[in-house]
Amino acid sequence: MRTLIVYGSKHGATKKVVDMLKEKIAGEVSVMNAKEKIKCDIKSFDVVIIGSSIYIGKIGKEVKRFIRSNLEEILSRKIGLFLVSGGNEEIESYYKKNFPEELLKKVEAKGYFGFSYNGEGYNAMERMVLKEIAKKAMVKEKFEKKNMDDFLNSLQINKETYNEEG
Ligand SMILES: Cc1cc2nc3c(=O)[nH]c(=O)nc-3n(C[C@H](O)[C@H](O)[C@H](O)COP(=O)(O)O)c2cc1C
Repeated sequence: MRTLIVYGSKHGATKKVVDMLKEKIAGEVSVMNAKEKIKCDIKSFDVVIIGSSIYIGKIGKEVKRFIRSNLEEILSRKIGLFLVSGGNEEIESYYKKNFPEELLKKVEAKGYFGFSYNGEGYNAMERMVLKEIAKKAMVKEKFEKKNMDDFLNSLQINKETYNEEG
């Protein structure tokens, strides 16, 4: 079982999520930051997981580009998508707005894995938005481990429940 995780993270939260996911997946796992534009043979993987954080309703442009450039190969694999964002109330609209319809039709699992406002290197505009968020947010970081387990169960690659015979 070979899994590829491709992610986009502006300030590190999604990278943290990827590290947690990686620990939970059965078999071989390769991780690729969409920013690095590394060529990889998508067809050599059984499962492709694509995840991004959300800024002003949008996923990272590198993740968008990865999907656009590799859509056909991605569609031939078992697919999971996940998002890392301040809240999950608008999560369905984020999926609809940011991913091609044919990809959404084919995914086996979609997940919401939490957020962090503890990243590094925020610019002035981002710091202003964070100030507003901080007035309402109860905590500065929360990761949804149960959602990660459910997501990996749906893809049948959760180390804890993985069964070689399928
Ligand atoms: C400037 C800014 C804009 C954001 N916009 C949204 C948004 O539109 N919707 C949302 O749910 N979360 C939003 N967030 C929260 C981020 O998605 C969250 O902090 C996430 O953990 C960032 O992940 P990253 O560090 O991997 O980039 C925003 C955060 C900042 C700083």
